[in-house]
Amino acid sequence: MTSMLSIRRRHWAAVLAGAMALATPAWVAAQTPIIVKFSHVVADKTPKGMAALKFKELAEQKLPGKVQVQVFPSSQLFGDAKEMEALLLGDVQLIAPSLSKFDRYTKKIQVFDLPFLFDDIAAVDAFQSSPAGQGLLKSMTNRGLIGLAYWHNGMKQLSTDKDQLKRPEDVKGLKFRIQPSDVLEAQFRALGANPQKMAFAEVYQALQTGVVDGQENTWSNIYSQKFHEVQKTIAETNHGVIDYMVVTNAKWWDGLPADVRKGLSEAMAEATAYGNKLANDINEDDKKKIEAAGKAKIQKLSKDDIAAWRKAMEPVWKKFEGEIGRDLIDAALKSNK
Ligand code: LMR
Repeated sequence: MTSMLSIRRRHWAAVLAGAMALATPAWVAAQTPIIVKFSHVVADKTPKGMAALKFKELAEQKLPGKVQVQVFPSSQLFGDAKEMEALLLGDVQLIAPSLSKFDRYTKKIQVFDLPFLFDDIAAVDAFQSSPAGQGLLKSMTNRGLIGLAYWHNGMKQLSTDKDQLKRPEDVKGLKFRIQPSDVLEAQFRALGANPQKMAFAEVYQALQTGVVDGQENTWSNIYSQKFHEVQKTIAETNHGVIDYMVVTNAKWWDGLPADVRKGLSEAMAEATAYGNKLANDINEDDKKKIEAAGKAKIQKLSKDDIAAWRKAMEPVWKKFEGEIGRDLIDAALKSNK
C-alpha cells in the first residue's frame, strides 16, 4: 500500500517541477553551461567567419561558466537547405544566412537583392541602421525568428568560365548558380541567362564540373571557396550585396535567463562592430590574392559597361516593387550619398 508520506512527497515533487518549468523552459534549465550552437556556411577567414568567432570569445568572456558557444563553419553542421529548419526546431541557436535566403519568411527583405540599388557597403550600412532597416530585424517574429544584427560581407562580382565577360550580352544563354532568391532568379532571366538555385557548399563542384558556367559572389567568398581556380573571368560589377542577418529562435531567446540574454546581446553588438569594420579590408585583400594567384582574369568595367548591366537588370525592380513596397525601396535609395 502506498504510504501517506510517499503520496505527499510525490505531490510536492510535482509542484516543484511545475514551478521550475514556469520559471525557465526545460531546455535552458537542463543545461549548465547553456550551449549556444552557431552554424554558418562560409570559411573561418571571412567577414562572417571572423565575426562568429569574435562573438564566441566575447560571449564566453562576459558569461563565464554560464554559456558555451560552439561555432560550426563551412556547412559542417547544417548547410543552406537545412539551417533555418534546424533553428526553428531548436537544433541550433544562431545562424547568419545571407539576406538573399529569407524570402520565404518575409518578402520585404528582398529589397537587398535589387540589382544596383546600393552604391557600396557604406550605403548598405546606412540603410540597415535606419528605422526601416532596423524594422526588418523584427519582421519575422511571427515566424518564430528574431533578427539580432546585420553583418557585412560585401558587394557581389560576376564570374564565368568564359574569356569574354564585359557586357550583358556575354552571359546570354549561360547557366548561373544563384542563392535561393526569386529576385536573383529574375535578375539572371533579365540577362537572358539560366539561373539555378543551389546551396553554397555545392557551388565549387558545380563550377568545376560545368554543371553551371558562372556565379555571383563577394571577393572573400570567391577566394575562400577557390572559385577563381575554376572560373576564367571575374567582372568587377559590384551589382549587388551579400550581407547577413544573424537570427535566433524567438522562443529560445525569450526563454533565456535575463542576465544571459543581456550578455549575449552585448557580445553580439561588439562582434557586429568588429566584423563590420573588417569586412571591406578582407574583401580588398582577397581580391588582391585572387589577382596574385593569376588563375582567373579580373575584368575591369568602364562606366559605360556598368550602365549597360544596370539597364539590362532594370526590369527586376518593377517586377518586385509590389512585394517589397515602394517606401522601403525609397528608404534604401536614400542611403546612397
Ligand atoms: C552564398 O550562398 O553564395 C552566400 O550567401 C554564402 C554566404 O553565406 O556568404
